[in-house]
Amino acid sequence: MSILLKDLQEPLFSCILLLCCLTSICHGLTPDGEALVNFRTSIINSIDVLGQWRPEDPDPCGWKGVTCDNKTMRVISLNVSHHKLKGPLSPDIGKLDQLKILDLHYNNFFGAIPPELGNCTELQGLFLQNNFLSGFVPSGLGNLSQLQTLDISSNSLDGRIPTSIGNLKNLVNFNVSSNFLSGPIPTDGVLGQFGRDSFVGNSDMCGKQIDKLCKNDAGNLQPAGSQNEKKNSGRLLISASATVGALLLVALMCFWGCFLYKKLGKNDVKGLAKDVSGGASIVMFHGDLPYSSKDIIKKLETLNEEHIIGAGGFGTVYKLSMDDGNVFALKRIVKLNEGFDRFFERELGILGSIKHKYLVNLRGYCNSPTSKLLLYDYLPGGSLDEALHENGEQLHWDTRLKIIMGAAKGLAYLHHDCSPRIIHRDIKASNILLDGNLDARVSDFGLAKLLEDEESHITTIVAGTFGYLAPEYMQSGRATEKTDVYSFGVLMLEVISRKRPTDASFIEKGLNIVGWLNCLVTEDRQHEIIDGNCEGVEAETVDPLLSVAILCVSTSPEDRPTMHMVVKTLESDVMTPCPSDFYDSSSD
Ligand SMILES: Nc1ncnc2c1ncn2[C@@H]1O[C@H](COP(=O)(O)OP(=O)(O)OP(=O)(O)O)[C@@H](O)[C@H]1O
Ligand SMILES: *[C@@H]1O[C@H](CO)[C@@H](O)[C@H](O)[C@H]1NC(C)=O
Ligand SMILES: *[C@@H]1O[C@H](CO)[C@@H](O)[C@H](O)[C@H]1NC(C)=O
Ligand SMILES: *[C@@H]1O[C@H](CO)[C@@H](O)[C@H](O)[C@H]1NC(C)=O
Ligand SMILES: *[C@@H]1O[C@H](CO)[C@@H](O)[C@H](O)[C@H]1NC(C)=O
Ligand SMILES: *[C@@H]1O[C@H](CO)[C@@H](O)[C@H](O)[C@H]1NC(C)=O
Ligand SMILES: [Mg+2]
Repeated sequence: MSILLKDLQEPLFSCILLLCCLTSICHGLTPDGEALVNFRTSIINSIDVLGQWRPEDPDPCGWKGVTCDNKTMRVISLNVSHHKLKGPLSPDIGKLDQLKILDLHYNNFFGAIPPELGNCTELQGLFLQNNFLSGFVPSGLGNLSQLQTLDISSNSLDGRIPTSIGNLKNLVNFNVSSNFLSGPIPTDGVLGQFGRDSFVGNSDMCGKQIDKLCKNDAGNLQPAGSQNEKKNSGRLLISASATVGALLLVALMCFWGCFLYKKLGKNDVKGLAKDVSGGASIVMFHGDLPYSSKDIIKKLETLNEEHIIGAGGFGTVYKLSMDDGNVFALKRIVKLNEGFDRFFERELGILGSIKHKYLVNLRGYCNSPTSKLLLYDYLPGGSLDEALHENGEQLHWDTRLKIIMGAAKGLAYLHHDCSPRIIHRDIKASNILLDGNLDARVSDFGLAKLLEDEESHITTIVAGTFGYLAPEYMQSGRATEKTDVYSFGVLMLEVISRKRPTDASFIEKGLNIVGWLNCLVTEDRQHEIIDGNCEGVEAETVDPLLSVAILCVSTSPEDRPTMHMVVKTLESDVMTPCPSDFYDSSSD
C-alpha cells in the first residue's frame, strides 16, 4: 500500500519543490508550520485532506484545520477530526506550544500518544477519541494545567491512568472509556469527580467510580459477590472489554478498509503489469497443472480492473481464466519490505504442500521484485461473508450446517493432521469460501503469520478480524489453536444468526455477538440468536449446535474444545439425529 501511495507522492512532492523555488526560494515557513508539515508527513493518506497545506506558505494560518492567534501568528488550534487520517502521531506536535485545542478524533491514528504533548502547556481541549492509539497514557499530560477536556476514549491504550492526571484542576470533561486500561483509578485529585461513564469498557480497571474494589496487591480485579457471580461477571466483563471497547472503532475501521481498498484496486492493475514484466519467476505446486511459466505470465499481463473480484487486508484478488477453461484466483500482495523472500518461499512451500477437501488449494506463486502473487483455486460460490450478508437469497439451515461442518473439518485438519501444524489466525466469514455445491473451503491459512512482520498489515488484519478475536489474543497478541477455536465459535454464531460479529444492534448495547450470546444464555433465551428468517431450522439440531458454539467462545482457552472435538461433536450430535442426503460422510 505504502508503495502505491509513494507513487502518487513523488510527482506531487517535486511539484511542490519546484513551486517553492519559483516563488522566491522559500521565505521560510514558521516553526509552527514546519511542525505541522512534519505532522502531515507521518500520515500515510494525508494527500486528500491535507494537500492544501503548502510548505511554501509563509505561515500555516490559512491551512485547513489550523487556526492562529492573529497577533502572534502562532497556531492555537488544530482540528482535523473525522478524516480517516491514518498514521502515527508525530512528536513534533509538542512544538506547537501555544496550542489550545487539538482535535484529532475519529481518525485512524495509531501508535503511541507522543509524550511530547506534555509540552503543549496551553492546551485546553485534547480530543483523541476514536482512533487506534495504543501504549501508555503519558504521565506528562498531567502537566497540562489548562486542560478542560481530555477525551482519549475508544482507542487501544493500556497500562494505568497516571496519577498525574489528578493534578488537572481545570478538567471538566474526562473520558478514557473503551480502552484496555487496567489497575486502580487514581484516588487523588480531580479524578474523583468523574463517574462510571468516563471509565467503562476497560479490561481490568478498578475503583469506586466503576463499583469495583481494588485488591491491595497489584490492584487485581476483585468483583464483589459469590463464587458463582464472580465467574459470570468475569465473563461479562471480558466480553464487554472485547466489545464495548473498540467496537465503534471496528465499524470505523471496516469503513476505512473499504475506502482504502476501493482506492487501491484502481492503482493495482498498473502495478500488476509492471510486476510480471520485470522478470518474475513462477513456482507451481502439485505438478498437476499443464501450464508453463510463460503461459501464466502471458495471462497475468492481460489482467485488468474488470478481473478484480475482491480485496482484503493482504491485497487485491483477481479472477484468472486460463484458455483451457480452468479458473484461478490470484492474490496480489504488494511487497513492503525486502529481505524476507527466502522465509516467504519456505513458508509458501509448506502451504503449497497442503491439500484437503475443505481447504482452498494454493496452486503456486510468483515472486516478482515488487510483489507476491499467490495462485489459488477459484471458488465460484464466493465467500461465506457475501453469501450470508450480501446475497438476497438466504442460506437454508441445512446448507448452514454443512458449511459449519466443512469449515470445522478444514480447520481441524490444519490443527491436527498437517505437518507442521498450522494455526490459521484469521478465521472469519470472508476467509471461508464456497464451491459450486455450497461446500465450505477454508482459505488464507498461514497467511497472517507469513505477513505479520509487515507492520501495516497488522492493523488491517485486526481491522477485518476484530469481532472474531479471542480476548486473550487481543491482550497478548499470541495466537494458539484455541484462539482459532474461539474465532470458529464466533463464525458459527454468525452463520446461525446471520449477524456480523460486530453488528450495529450489539454495538448499541455495548456488546459483540459473544456478549449478546452470554446475555441471552444467562436469561435462558439463547434460542433467540437463531436467524428468524432462516428456512428449515430443525429444533433438535439447535441445542447441540449452540452448546458447541458456546463452548468455543468460552472466555478461558482451557474451556474451549479442540477442533477435533468440535468435529466429533458436530458429527454425532448435530448431523446424525437427522441424517439427510446433503451430507457427504465419505469426506476426507
Ligand atoms: N479463491 C478464491 N475464489 C473466489 N473468490 C475469492 C478467492 N479468494 C478470494 N476471493 C474473493 O476475494 C475477496 C477478498 O479476499 P481476501 O482474502 O483478499 O480478503 P479477505 O478474506 O476479506 O481478508 P483477508 O485479507 O484477511 O483474508 C473475498 O471476500 C472473496 O470474495
Ligand atoms: C482576529 O480575528 C478575528 C476573526 O477573524 C477578528 O474578529 C478579530 O478582530 C481579530 N483580532 C485582531 C486583533 O486583529
Ligand atoms: C472540530 O471540527 C469539527 C467539524 O468541523 C467540529 O464539529 C468540532 O466541534 C471541532 N472541534 C472543536 C474542539 O472545536
Ligand atoms: C519540549 O520542551 C522542552 C523544554 O522546553 C524542549 O527542550 C523540548 O525540545 C520540547 N520538545 C519538543 C518535542 O518540542
Ligand atoms: C512536568 O513538568 C515538570 C515541571 O515543569 C517537569 O519537571 C516534568 O519533567 C514534566 N513532566 C513531564 C512528563 O514532562
Ligand atoms: C465516553 O465515551 C463513550 C464512547 O466512547 C461514551 O459512551 C460515554 O458516554 C462517554 N463518557 C462521558 C462521561 O462523556
Ligand atoms: Mg481472505
